[in-house]
Amino acid sequence: MNDSSGTPVRRVRVHHLRQAKERGERITMLTAYDAPTARIFDDAGTDVLLVGDSVGDNMLGQSTTIPVTVDQMVHHTRAVVSAVRRALVVADLPFGSYEASAQQAHATAVRLMKEGGAHAVKFEGGRRVADHVHLLTSTGIPVMGHVGFTPQSENVLGGKRVQGRGDDAAQRLTEDALALQDAGAFAVVLEMVPAPVAARVTEVLAIPTIGIGAGRECDGQVLVWTDMAGLSDWSPRFAQRYAELGTVLGAAAQAYNEDVRSRAFPTEAHSFTE
Ligand code: KIV
Repeated sequence: MNDSSGTPVRRVRVHHLRQAKERGERITMLTAYDAPTARIFDDAGTDVLLVGDSVGDNMLGQSTTIPVTVDQMVHHTRAVVSAVRRALVVADLPFGSYEASAQQAHATAVRLMKEGGAHAVKFEGGRRVADHVHLLTSTGIPVMGHVGFTPQSENVLGGKRVQGRGDDAAQRLTEDALALQDAGAFAVVLEMVPAPVAARVTEVLAIPTIGIGAGRECDGQVLVWTDMAGLSDWSPRFAQRYAELGTVLGAAAQAYNEDVRSRAFPTEAHSFTE
C-alpha cells in the first residue's frame, strides 16, 4: 500500500497506540459512518476511526444511541472499512447486544469483525464488563473500553452528566479503567470526566486513554465528526468546531437550486451532444 507520494502506508495496529503512549505522542480518533468521510479522515492521517453507535443520533435521525441495531453497525462498519488504508477501525457494540453475557458480547463482536471487517470493537462499562473483555481479548478480538459518561446508560445516569466527580466516584472510575486494562483492553475512552481525574487515570494506566470531554492530559482525543466539522446545529462544549460544513453545504444546495431554476445549470459543457 502506497500513499499518493509513493510512500508505503503502514496500517495502525493496536500495539502502535501503546507505543504512541510510551513515546508521549498523541493519538487522534474521529467517528466515521460512511466511505467518503472515512476516506477523507484516513487520508488526513487520523489514527483511529470509530464507527460509533453515535451513528444513531448523528446520521439516522434518532435522539439517542439506544435504538441502533447490530445490523446497522455491520452496514456502517463495512462502508468505513472499505475506504480505509491506514487507520485502525473500531466498531461499537450497540445497546442490548453485549450486556447480558460475555458470550453475547463475543457473538456480536464476531459479526462486526467477520461481516463488517472491523479491526477492533468497543463497548461501554467498567468492572461489570471485565469478563466480557477478557473472553474477547483471549479469543483474538481487540477491545477498546469506554468509561465515564456512557451514553447507552443515559437513563440510569440521569442524563448527560460529568462522571467521576468527588473522591469516591473518581476512585471507582479509576478501578473500572484498571479492570478493563487487566482484562486485556488495548485502550480506554474516558468520556465527560473532570480533567484532573482523567489525568490521574492516564498516569495509572499503561494502556492509552482517549478523551472526549476529559481534558488535555489523555493520551489521545476523540470527537464525533459532525461536531468537529460543524455539520450539526449544535456541538457540545468540549468539542471544537474546525469547520462549518452545515453552512457550506446549505450554500451549495441553494446555489444549485437557483441555477436549476434560472436554467444556468446544466450548460453545454455538462451535456452529451450525441
Ligand atoms: O459512539 C460514539 O461516538 C462514541 C464516542 C462518543 C466515543 O462512543
